Amino acid sequence: SARRDLAGRRVVVTAGGTREPLDPVRFLGNRSSGKQGVAIAEAARARGAHVTLVAANLEVASPGGCDLREVSTALELQAAVTEAAAGADLVVMAAAVADYRPAAVSESKIKKQPGDDGLTLELVRNPDILAGLGHAPHDGTLLVGFAAETEADDDRLLALGAGKLEAKGADLLVVNRVGWTEGFARDDNRVVIIGNEGVLARAVGSKMSVAHEILDVVAPRLRELRAP
Ligand code: PMT
Repeated sequence: SARRDLAGRRVVVTAGGTREPLDPVRFLGNRSSGKQGVAIAEAARARGAHVTLVAANLEVASPGGCDLREVSTALELQAAVTEAAAGADLVVMAAAVADYRPAAVSESKIKKQPGDDGLTLELVRNPDILAGLGHAPHDGTLLVGFAAETEADDDRLLALGAGKLEAKGADLLVVNRVGWTEGFARDDNRVVIIGNEGVLARAVGSKMSVAHEILDVVAPRLRELRAP
C-alpha cells in the first residue's frame, strides 16, 4: 500500500485462537488460523504503524517487522494485550478467545476409566478481555473488537453485533459471519464494521483487502482522537 496514514502510530493486534489445556497433551481450542489478525498486522505495518502482534497458536507464518508476543491461553493473551495496549493508539482484537477453560488442568494424561461410557468436563469462565479494556479508561486508544456470529439473517446479525459493541465497551466492532465454511481458516472473509452510529462499512474479499478496509474506517478516527 502506498498509504502511510498510520505512520507514527502504535498498533496492537491479537490473532489466532486460544488453547485451554486439559492435560499435558490435550486442549480445548477453536478453528481460528490467525489469518485475519495477521493480515491486519501486516496492513497496519505497510501503512507505517509500529505493530505489536499478540499471536495465539498461529497456523500461518508470523509477519516480519512486527513486535511478536506469542501466547497460548486466554489468560496469557490477557496479560500480553493488557501490557501492550497501554499507550497504544489502536487495539484490534481479532483473536478467537475461549470463553471457558477447564476448571482443573491434570498433571498427567487423563485416562479412560474402566466401565465409564462418558466423561464430564467442568469449565470455568475466562475473563472477557475486550470488555476489560473497553470498560477501563482508554483515552486516546481506539478499541476495535470482532464479533464472530453464525447468524445468517443480516438484521439479526447486526443486532447481535450492536449488543456486543455496547456490552464490551468497544469503539468499533467488526461483525464477522462465521460457520462451517465461512470466516475461520479461509483466505477470504465477509464483515460489517459497526460503530455507535450504526453500519460504517461492509467488506468482502481476501483477508488482506478486509484488513485494509477496516483500517480505512479506523485511520480518520485515530486522527480525531489525537495527532500522531
Ligand atoms: O483466524 P482466522 O482463521 O483468519 O479467522 C478469523 C476470525 C473469524 C477468528 C476473526 O475474524 C474473528 O471473528 N475473531 C473474533 C472471534 C471471537 O472470539 O469472537 P467472539 O464474538 O467470541 O468475541 C467477541 C470479541 O471479544 C472478540 O474481539 C474477542 O477477541 C473478544 N473476546 C472474546 C472472549 C473473551 N473471553 N475475551 C475477549 O476479549
